[in-house]
Formats: sequence, structure tokens, C-alpha cells
Amino acid sequence: TLTQAEKAAVVAIWSKASTQAEAIGAESLERLFTSYPQAKTYFPHFDLSQGSSQLRAHGSKVLNAVGEAVKHIDDISGALAKLSELHAYILRVDPVNFKLLSHCILCTVAARYPNDFTPEVHAAWDKFLSSISSVLTEKYR
Ligand code: HEM
Repeated sequence: TLTQAEKAAVVAIWSKASTQAEAIGAESLERLFTSYPQAKTYFPHFDLSQGSSQLRAHGSKVLNAVGEAVKHIDDISGALAKLSELHAYILRVDPVNFKLLSHCILCTVAARYPNDFTPEVHAAWDKFLSSISSVLTEKYR
């Protein structure tokens, strides 16, 4: 679980990042599909070219879910319960991909807010994104 200081660090960056949710989400997905093309296999029905409307719409959904987790930072598993079922039972995404996407979100946020991205903020976001990933993969067996 996150310490009070870590929660504060997550909330502070989110207050900036939330206004750019679609752009950050789309860039995170672009980084994911460029660096780890195997992740594209889950999206055969999507146009994954850079800046496509599907990429932007999906990026926005993903980052809005991250925003829900920020809002309910003391109950992430409750906040993302439905998404957890979707990813585990219906989409069956290999958990490895959550680490890859988390890394890409981290890179995107770091590139946008370099001055805010201190080692402490980096560590807090890493832990926070790991918590989200755990929740989204906890239903797997
Ligand atoms: C759908 C969030 C990780 C694959 C979604 C949706 C959200 C979401 C909000 C839309 C659900 C809906 O329409 O009701 C997240 C979050 C993640 C994450 C917060 C981790 C931070 C992943 C990963 C993959 C993945 C790692 C695979 C590489 C998918 C797919 C869909 C989806 C294939 C369905 C897309 C569609 O057909 O519209 N996710 N996701 N997700 N997610 Fe994730």
C-alpha cells in the first residue's frame, strides 16, 4: 500500500495530467505498440496507426480509469472491479503486458512533466501503477 507521501505525490501529478488524459493515454499506447509490438495482438480490430481516433479514444478511456484509481486511491480494487473482470475473464490479457503499459505511462508522464518527476514521484507512480496492475490481474488464476 502507498504511504501518505506517495499518495500525495500521485495526486499532485494527476492534477496536471488529468487535463491531458487523452494525449497522455494515446502516447502511452503508441509507446506500448512501438516498443512491444506483441501487445498489438489484443487489438486486431483497432486502427493502431499513430494518432488514430481509436487510439486516442482508447487512450482516453485507459487514463480515465487511472483517474478513477487516483480518486479512490484507498480502494483501487473497488474502483476498478468491473475492469478487473473484463481484463481477466473476457479479454484474457497476459499480465506481462500490464508491466509494459505501466512503464509506457510512466515514460509519457516523465517526458511531459520533467521538473515534477523527481525520484520520489517516480517511485510513487511506479508503485501506484503496480497497484492498478495487481487489481486488474488479481482475478486471473
Ligand atoms: C479495454 C483500462 C491494461 C487491453 C479497456 C477499457 C479500459 C481499460 C477503461 C475500456 C473498458 C470499457 O470499454 O468498458 C486499462 C487500464 C490498464 C489496462 C487502466 C492498465 C493500466 C491493458 C493492457 C492490455 C489491455 C496491458 C493489453 C495489452 C484491452 C483491450 C480492451 C481494453 C483489448 C478492449 C478494447 C475494445 O475493444 O474497445 N482497458 N487497461 N488493457 N483493454 Fe485495457
